[in-house]
Parts: sequence; structure tokens; C-alpha cells
Amino acid sequence: MIRSVVTKLWLTICALVLGILLTFSLFLTDRLEKIYFSYQIRLMTDHAEQWKKIILSNMQPDKLQQEMEFWGKVSHYKLTVFDSNGIVLYSSDTKHSPLEIQIDLKHVKARLVNGEYYYKGYYPEFHMEMTAAFLPFKDPFNNEYLIMVHAPTDDLMAMIKTVRITAFGVLFLFLVLSGALVWYFSRLIAKPLIEIRKIAVGMAKGDFSTQVKYNRNDELGDLAKTMNTLSIRLNKTLGSLSRANSDLNALLQKWKEFVADVSHELRTPLFLIQGYSEAILDNVVKDKKTQNEYLAVITKETLRLQKIVNDLLAVESGLPLQKVETVLSKLIRETLVPFEIAANEKSIAIEMHDSLKSLPPVNVDPAKLDEVIYNLVDNALRHTPQKGKITIAGAVDNPGKVKLIVRDTGTGIPPEHLPYLFDRFYRVDKSRSRSEGGTGLGLAIVKKIVEQHGGDITVQSQLNKGTVFTISLPMK
Ligand SMILES: Nc1ncnc2c1ncn2[C@@H]1O[C@H](COP(=O)(O)OP(=O)(O)OP(=O)(O)O)[C@@H](O)[C@H]1O
Ligand SMILES: [Mg+2]
Repeated sequence: MIRSVVTKLWLTICALVLGILLTFSLFLTDRLEKIYFSYQIRLMTDHAEQWKKIILSNMQPDKLQQEMEFWGKVSHYKLTVFDSNGIVLYSSDTKHSPLEIQIDLKHVKARLVNGEYYYKGYYPEFHMEMTAAFLPFKDPFNNEYLIMVHAPTDDLMAMIKTVRITAFGVLFLFLVLSGALVWYFSRLIAKPLIEIRKIAVGMAKGDFSTQVKYNRNDELGDLAKTMNTLSIRLNKTLGSLSRANSDLNALLQKWKEFVADVSHELRTPLFLIQGYSEAILDNVVKDKKTQNEYLAVITKETLRLQKIVNDLLAVESGLPLQKVETVLSKLIRETLVPFEIAANEKSIAIEMHDSLKSLPPVNVDPAKLDEVIYNLVDNALRHTPQKGKITIAGAVDNPGKVKLIVRDTGTGIPPEHLPYLFDRFYRVDKSRSRSEGGTGLGLAIVKKIVEQHGGDITVQSQLNKGTVFTISLPMK
């Protein structure tokens, strides 16, 4: 099986050229042979006519014989003159004595069909293939003569043979030349095809780096262009598909982490609720006081579950903000009210810095911003020891932004925890935070709300010195 397009194309065109040339040269040599043959016959007949005139001119027989022998030497043909009995009267051929040859006139006449006075074939009298033209005539005395101008057919055919050999030589040369030419053009035509195939194979393997470099204005050029466009589009589609795929994978990973985190968080309170309620139901604890203590644990854990669920809803909710013009100092003052008792108990001063008063009104969702301040102050209060201080300050931040700063003089956060602080369920001291009721969702909610407002939040902390949370919010 031939696989190359070039070879196939080449073979097909070569076979076609060979077929055409062969038919053409066969036809040509055949025609040539016929033309040449009839030309010979005409010449022979002309000679016969000439000799007829000479014979009728009553030339001396000896002289006539001499003339004929001379003619025989210079002429391409031979000449024999027979009488009515077919006996040779004169001959141009000195090799044969005239009496040696006798011709059967009936036989000759039988050969001369359709009035064409020539014959090509085997002559037993001359022991060879001959071509001869005949001319029968009578002299004024009614003596019959037959002039035969003849030549061996081989001699005549020699010329045709030369023509044939030349024709086939030219044919062969032409074939070699056209073969080379066709090979060149086949390659020229097939080159872009081969290139396109190479690129298609590359594309199948995911390589879109190469483009077909063929930009002629023909069908192959169109094909090349189409291939290039296809390659670019496929590359783009595959690129966006793989990006979408990795996005999807990342999302799936986050979802898995989320489910794992949530399950983990829910497990402890559920486990406690189950244990304590079973103890009561199985009558393991009989006295009322312990039972009440157990019920208190169950209630506490139930509230905890409720908080986790509410916080989760807050952190994951995509509800739109309800922004209104808000005076931040007023909002913060109201947010701080519930902390008064706890702060007093720990002798912690919560201070609203004067800078808050000079803040311009900002366009925010007040309920959400209350949640942000609440969470930050709640954290600060929890991580600040007795007699500490919590300060909330504000500043106008160019361009068109305000800053809110919540600073405490608390325990601080070890630097290695800072990058994860805003992650869901992330707590620095896990056991302590949980025992104090923290779910690790507070800062995740804060970050989510700030980002929803188009702002950002950063944290700076020094161990045993304190922590500063800085929120930047756009005014509008
Ligand atoms: N001002 C702070 N000083 C020291 N550590 C802090 C401060 N604020 C937050 N943290 C640390 O960051 C962790 C994450 O805080 P976050 O508010 O997200 O969770 P949480 O307070 O433990 O629980 P909750 O969901 O009830 O807020 C806390 O567990 C705490 O260890
Ligand atoms: Mg918190």
C-alpha cells in the first residue's frame, strides 16, 4: 500500500502521461508508415511510367539493358520487365541472369486487386519480402509487357524503423522529463498537505504551538487558514475548559473542607447533648440538682449549635446589602452598649476616640457594620486581661475611604497564625476558644461583610502587647 500522497499523485499523472504519449506515438508511427508507404508506391509507379516511355521509344534492346543496369546501380529500386509469358526481358539487376527469373503473370494479376498495381509481400521468385509496383502495357505491335519496379520491403521499412526508434526515444525522454516535473509539482502541491497533516497530528496530541505557513489564495490556502483558526479556537476552548476545571476543583476542595469543618464543629455539642440527655433518660443521675446541671449543659450546647448555624448562615449568605447613609460614631456607640457590664467586670476601658466624630457619614448596611464592630470588640474583650484598654478610632483615608481601627492591649496573636485568622473555624487556641463558646467564625463573618462593602481588613499584632484590626471602607 502506497501511503504517500506525493507518490500516488506522481504515479497517477505518470501513468496518464505514459498512456497518452504511447497512444499518440503509436498512432503517429502508424500514420507515418502509411504515408511513407504510399509515397514509395507513387515513386515506383512514376519510375515504371518513365521506363514504359523509354521501352516504347524503340531503343535498342542491348542499349536498353545497359541503361537499366546503370539505373539499377544509382537507384534505390530494382526494375524487371517481363513479356506476356512472364519471362524476363530486361532487368536492372545484374546479379540474376534475366532467364533465371520467370514470373507467373496470372499470379501477379491475381495479386493486383482493386486496380492497385502494387503488392507488398513474399515473392517466391526473389525469395524475399518485397514491395513492388506493376505497370502492364502493350506496344503498337500488340506485344504485352509488364514493368515491375521493386525493392526489398526491409529496405523500405528501415526508414520507418528509424522513425519508430526516434519516436520511442523522444517518448522516453519526454516521460523522464515529465516524470521529474510532475514529481516536483506533486511535492509542491502535497507540501502544505503534509504540513497540515503534521499540525493536525500535533493538535491531536494537544500541541497548538505550530501554525500552517501556507497563505496562497487557493483551496489549500483556505484549508490551511481553517486549520489555523481551528487550532487557535481549540486552544482557547481547551484553555478555558481546563481553567474552568481547575476552578471547579478548587471549589470542590473548598466545599469538602467546609463540610468537614462544619461536621467537626457540630460533632462536639451534639455528642455532649446526646451524652447528657441519655444520662438523664437512663436515670444514671437521680438527684434533681445534678439533673439540672446536666440540663444546663444541654441548653448551653443547644445554644452553641444555634450560634454555629446562625454564624454559618451569616458567613455564607449572599443576601444583598441594604446600604443607608450612616453616622459611624452613633452606630459604634450603640454597638458598644451590651459590652458595658463585661468590660466593667474586667476593669477594661472601652474608648471611642475623638477622631470618630469627625468622620463623614458613609453609605453602609448599618446592621452588618454593627456585626463587624461587635465581633471585633467581642474578640478584643475576650483576649484582653484585667485593666486593659480597647480603643476604637477612625480616619479619613484617601481617596473616598474611611478607616476604622479597633485596638486592644491584650494577649496578641503569634505571627504564624495571622495568615489564617480570617479563615472559617480558625482559632488560635482551639480548646480555650471553644470552651469559651467561640466557633472561629467571627472574623470570617467580619471579612465577608467588609469585602461585600468593597473594603478590606488587615491585622497587626504583637504578643503580650495587643492587636490592631484596621478596616478600610469606601464612603459610597
Ligand atoms: N483581639 C484579639 N486578640 C487576640 N486574639 C484574637 C483577637 N481576635 C481574634 N483572636 C484570635 O483569633 C481567633 C479567631 O477569631 P474569631 O472571632 O474568628 O473566632 P472566635 O472568637 O474564636 O469565635 P467566634 O466565632 O465566637 O467569634 C480567635 O479564636 C482568637 O484566638
Ligand atoms: Mg470572635
